[in-house]
Parts: sequence; C-alpha cells; structure tokens
Amino acid sequence: MADFLTKDKRTHYCGNLDISMASQEVILMGWVHRRRDHGGVIFVDLRDREGIVQVVFNPEAGNAHSEAHKIRSEFVLAVKGKVRRRPEGMENPDLKTGEIEVIVSDLEIMNESKTPPFSFDDQDISENIRLKYRYLDLRRPVIQKNLFLRSRLAAATRRYFDENGFIEVETPFLGKSTPEGARDYLVPSRINKGTFYALPQSPQLFKQLLMVSGFDRYYQIVKCFRDEDLRADRQPEFTQIDVEMSFITEEDIMSMMEGLMKAIFKACLDKEITLPLPRLTYADAISRYGKDNPDVRFGMEIVDITNIVKDSGFKLFAEVAASGGVIKAIKAEQASALSRKDLDGLKDFVAIYGAKGLAWAKINANDWTSPIYKFFKPEEVESIGKAMNTKESDIIFFVADTPRVVNDSLGNLRIHLARKLNLIDSDALAFTWITEFPLMEYSETEKRFVSTHHPFTSPFLEDLPLMTTDPGKVRAKAYDLVLNGSEIGGGSIRIHHKDVQSQVFSALKLSDEDARQKFGFLLDALEYGAPPHGGLAFGLDRLTMIMTKAESIRDVIAFPKTQKAACLMTDAPSKVSIGQLMELSLKIV
Ligand code: AMO
Ligand code: AMP
Repeated sequence: MADFLTKDKRTHYCGNLDISMASQEVILMGWVHRRRDHGGVIFVDLRDREGIVQVVFNPEAGNAHSEAHKIRSEFVLAVKGKVRRRPEGMENPDLKTGEIEVIVSDLEIMNESKTPPFSFDDQDISENIRLKYRYLDLRRPVIQKNLFLRSRLAAATRRYFDENGFIEVETPFLGKSTPEGARDYLVPSRINKGTFYALPQSPQLFKQLLMVSGFDRYYQIVKCFRDEDLRADRQPEFTQIDVEMSFITEEDIMSMMEGLMKAIFKACLDKEITLPLPRLTYADAISRYGKDNPDVRFGMEIVDITNIVKDSGFKLFAEVAASGGVIKAIKAEQASALSRKDLDGLKDFVAIYGAKGLAWAKINANDWTSPIYKFFKPEEVESIGKAMNTKESDIIFFVADTPRVVNDSLGNLRIHLARKLNLIDSDALAFTWITEFPLMEYSETEKRFVSTHHPFTSPFLEDLPLMTTDPGKVRAKAYDLVLNGSEIGGGSIRIHHKDVQSQVFSALKLSDEDARQKFGFLLDALEYGAPPHGGLAFGLDRLTMIMTKAESIRDVIAFPKTQKAACLMTDAPSKVSIGQLMELSLKIV
C-alpha cells in the first residue's frame, strides 16, 4: 500500500508528464476531470494546475480498481502508477499529455466532492453561477492560465524596476478623502467618531511626497479603490503598477515605461515590442480617430470634409458648417457586405452618441448610390472621393454636427464597423502614446474648469499666459499609453513650484483655503525643496486582459466584483449589526 503525502510524495504535476517519462513510476495528485467506465477498465482524466493526464485502472490493479468504482467528478485522488505510451490509435492530439497514460497500481481517494453546479467543459456558464462558486470557477484551466500570466507580469515588473534602481514603498490604505475624479470609498473611524478615512483612488500624493523625501525612483504594485460606475474594463478595486521619478522629463519617463512594456511582453508572451512606441497628440487622436484611446490596429481614419461641402446644395451640411459645426466622414473599404438594412440600422448606433443622422454613400464606377447623391455637384463628388481616396465598392459614412458629437459618433462607428467587417487582427499589439492633453476641460455640470488628469499635473510652461485668457487651450505635460484601443496607463510631470500650483488652483476656481484644507500637506511639502518629478500608473488588470485576450476584467481577477460592485460568493457588501454601527456612532437613514 502506498503511504501518500508522508512517504509517497507527489513526483510530478499531471500536465507536465510526457513520453520521455515512459515506463517511469510516478505519483500524481489532483482532481477528477472526467471518468469513463469501459466495462472493466476505468479511465480517469486527472487534472491539476498544469493540465490533465489520463490515468487507467485495469482489473489487475486489484484494490485500486475496485476503489476506482467510487470515483466521481471532482473527487481528489492520489495515484501511483507507471507512465506508458498509449496504444496505437488511442492518442489524443487535443491533450498536451495525449501521447501517454498512467497505469495505476495504487489509489487513495483523498476527498469526495458534491456534484459541481456547472460542467467545467461548458462554454457559456452563467457568470452569476461562476462568481457564486468562484473557487470552482477558478479550477477551470482558462481562468487559471489568466492568473498565472498575471503573476508572471507582476514578477517581470518587479524584476525590471529592481534592475533599474527603483524602490518599492507601500503607502497607506486608510487615507484622507481628496478629490481625484471618482467617488471615494469611506471607512468610518471608531476612535475618532464622526470622521472617516478614504481608501486611496491611487497613491498619487504619497508618491509625490516620496520624491520630496529624495527616494528618486519609486514603484508599487498596489490596489486602488474607486466608487464609480462599472464597465467591462473597470472594477471598484483594481491594481496599478504605480511609478514616480525625480529629475526627469516626459521623455525619460516614457522611455523607462517603454522598456517596462518590452520586458513584460518578452517575459510573459515571448513577443518582441519595437521601440520607441508611436505617439499621437491628443488633438490628432481626437481629429483622426474621434477618441483619446484610439484603436490603431486598423485604418479607417476620420476625414474632415467641411470645406468641400460647406457650400454644397445639401442644405443640412451647409447649415451645420455655417453654425460652426463640422462634417466628417469615414470610409469602410470594400464593404459591399453591408446591406441597405445594415446601413439604415447604423443610424440608431450613432444616435447613442448624439448624432441626429448618418448619411452614407456606396461608391460605384461612375457615381454613388446614396440618399444624398442628388444634392452634390460632380466636382464636389470628385473632391470627396479624392479626400477619402475612395475605390469602387467602398462605403462612406458622414456625420454633420458639433465637433464633439461628430468625433464621438464616428469614433465609435469606426470601431463598430471594424468589428462587424472583421478588420481587427486579434494578434496585433498596437501601442500609442497620447500626449499634450488639455490641462483642463470645462464642465457644464460644475460650471467651471476641471482638471483633465489631476490638479498636480504640470502645464506646458509656454502656455501659462493662456491660463487666465483661454484656460481650455493650456496643454498639460500628461501622457497616456493606449494599447489596442484601451487606456492601459497614464501619468504626467507634476507641478513642483508653489506659484504654478496656485495659478492652476485659481484657474480651477479652488480657493487657497479649500486647497489647504484638501491637500495642505502636499502644498507644504512643495515648499521644502521639491525636486522636478513625474510619473505614471498602469492598470495591471487591463494589461492582463489584453495579454490574455480576456473579454472581461473579471476573468483576470481572482475574486472580482459584479457590475453592481457586489461579491456573489461572500455576499459583500452586507448589512452590519446595530452594535457595530453604535460603536462607530453611525445611524442608517
Ligand atoms: P489613472 O486614473 O489614469 O491615473 O489610472 C491609471 C490606470 O489605471 C487603470 N484604471 C482602472 N483599471 C480598472 N478599473 C478601474 N476602475 C480603473 N481606473 C483606472 C487604467 C488607467 O490608465 N495617479 C494617476 C497616475 C499618475 O498620474 O501617475 C492615476 O491614478 O488603465
Ligand atoms: P433627409 O433629407 O433629412 O432625409 O436626410 C438625408 C440624409 O442625411 C439621410 O440619410 C439622413 O440620415 C442624413 N442625415 C440627417 N442628419 C444628418 C447629420 N446630422 N449628419 C449626417 N447625415 C445626416
């Protein structure tokens, strides 16, 4: 009898066995993925974190064979046996270990299992069930693969920063509520009744203070908390790779981060990234792709044709142009696959982004098929064709409106069409830096300018005179890194002079008193010899999503929250006892 665990220790992971181990004796421990009883011989697919191997119970195995009759899905087994080449014709090319099997001599059923609530082979298990039984969902090889890659990503990150002289410093989770965009998660203080900590939306201020303290190069792989509306690539708690450096320019930070991307993609996917990464200014990104996170894996750029059509016979376009609006277009190449019904349906799609209509034109050899063809003179048709570089069977889509609506609707239509027409190479890695963001944007709801990034972002010093005359035109020393249409990171050079900081606060209509109350400690620190500094933070979850091609951010987080910020497994958030509330001097209204 084998004495598993104590004497007979596991020798291999199931998924790592191969033909080179033929006729070796091995000891395996894992879960029953599948069991088949072939009248006498019992086959079990045994699974562990490295994969699956077929183990065979022959009637000659005596005790092990009779025990094997009790085996059910997800039972935990220890087996001892000999590896052998599978008989001719019995190989399974879909399995990494498909050439071999293990002939069992000893078996111990280490634990039984209830029948799982879903089959691990099922392709579309309801996500609610998966999240309720997350510990079982996490047994599925796809999800395990994602988490292993995530771990390699973190390891490569630490290695890179260590090699480049960065120090990892932890910053507090119980902090002070400061405005940084999203809503804070608050934690009531028991000892200081009526007061609250806030969980950090990012370590922003602390990492700046570490620069004032002279650490020079900081990084941290850190949880951040934001109480915002969730989407496919957002979670209320997520992880940042957070970085700050002193005595540097934007160029230094960007090239250090490019090196990180190169190291990560090499270590995790064995992919070579060519450096330097391409760049686009914010203004170009918006005008050519309609977004500040453009997907540049395909073309279909947005073209401004306002000048060509502003005096045309199409009244609607002429009126929009006269009232300061723009007319822009995108071209779907060789898109005859789109039916008339598809074309009309796209109107509803752009309506989501506020477009009042969507005109289209199918390019023929000598004319257009289009509801608006009749309004244009032949020269105008020709000029549009030239501007858009059209060929027969292309389709052009036009939107006329304010620049914001036009860019937003065509930017999103561009992506919608690319997906529909299968234009996106899912293996491509298209990075773009977005630079020269506006420092502030006017908020209609707040009736004042608000920071695009955060209020500590440095303006272009040559734009400072605009701060009082035309604040919306001031450019920021801020940069985002976009990969395949997803913002994977963002950062900026910070303000390190108190007078510049005051100018920014006053443009944001933040009184000195307000600023002092909110982040006086940072303002104080800036007066004690703050070095020039700047940094960036990557969204580690988003980066992992792209690297694993996961559809949802939940597939790369071990214990994620739902769209409603709940954990279906633990039932968090939950009510607490009256006693707990009293201790905190809190009352639910
Ligand atoms: P920012 O707010 O741009 O910058 O965040 C940096 C990166 O974090 C990721 N991210 C998220 N990922 C998942 N779920 C979320 N809710 C979420 N929110 C953000 C994004 C984003 O690019 N302190 C600054 C950085 C700096 O200036 O150095 C900051 O937090 O990928
Ligand atoms: P109409 O003359 O109103 O039927 O419009 C002619 C074409 O222009 C239709 O295909 C409309 O969808 C389209 N259209 C209407 N409003 C806009 C707009 N703001 N931008 C682009 N096309 C529009």
